[in-house]
Amino acid sequence: MEISSFERPILKVKNLKKQFGQGCNFCLEDDTKVLIKNYCPYCGTVYACKDISFQVYSGEILGVVGESGSGKSTLLECLYFDKEVTSGEAFISNYKDGEINIFQESSQVKRFLKNNVLGKVYQNPMLGLKMDFSSIGNIAEKLIAAGSRRVCDMEARGTGLLSRVNIPLFRIKEAPKNFSGGMQQRVQIAKALSNNPPILLLDEVTTGLDLSVQANVLDLIKEIQRELGISMLVVSHDLAVIRMLADRTIVMLDGRIVEEGLTDQVLEDPQNAYTQQLVHSLI
Ligand SMILES: Nc1ncnc2c1ncn2[C@@H]1O[C@H](COP(=O)(O)OP(=O)(O)O)[C@@H](O)[C@H]1O
Ligand SMILES: [Mg+2]
Ligand SMILES: [Zn+2]
Repeated sequence: MEISSFERPILKVKNLKKQFGQGCNFCLEDDTKVLIKNYCPYCGTVYACKDISFQVYSGEILGVVGESGSGKSTLLECLYFDKEVTSGEAFISNYKDGEINIFQESSQVKRFLKNNVLGKVYQNPMLGLKMDFSSIGNIAEKLIAAGSRRVCDMEARGTGLLSRVNIPLFRIKEAPKNFSGGMQQRVQIAKALSNNPPILLLDEVTTGLDLSVQANVLDLIKEIQRELGISMLVVSHDLAVIRMLADRTIVMLDGRIVEEGLTDQVLEDPQNAYTQQLVHSLI
């Protein structure tokens, strides 16, 4: 691989902001003075993501860690167009050479990017899967959205993907609602991978699963990342997940990035007071 393509970010996010509410004279003028965490007590506006900038490089796993409410899910929702940003820019190197802010594109383009360039695994499998469809049907749906038409190709691809995530062959026509939490997440992963996205977004994939099941799903994610060289944005409040998966990590607090670095460095030698607290509370 050329050095230039390695160093060039596959995803670049610049000054992403997402607020819920209009804001008022108090919080719009100087938000650091009046906000309680991310919340304006005068008008009730929530500043979920305040000024988020980062880059994801080809083939890396970038971790996003922070306490509940710090804005992690909102960030992924904005990047997957589940929610509209208040302002800010994002560029994907696979789309128009990374020169166009994807947030400004039409809804058709956004749908195209969702279907062909991005995959997302939700914390809640009900958001990522049709629970009553068959598992392989869930994958076919995504393949059709990405332009597939041939049933036998889709069947082969679906079977391959589900077996890759260790769903037994005899269960691939079963609906995810019959499956355990760990299996549902594995079906979600298969679905998210079905269009070969160069970028995968994962939100608290293992939160709520038993520890042994968690380890299993995390291993699978790591293996798939190595096999496919896909770039991942892994969001978790759990430092153990971040430690296991992420090459680099950003730490979020109240909608801002407070620390960023190689995961080992961030966890072994945190510079920011909040990160220090987060790391030490684990022990
Ligand atoms: N639809 C919404 N309306 C108002 N506030 C919201 C909405 N969605 C999320 N928030 C708020 O945005 C902040 C960030 O939430 P979230 O991104 O879910 O955090 P995290 O995933 O880090 O726990 C929280 O304060 C949350 O209450
Ligand atoms: Mg969340
Ligand atoms: Zn306000």
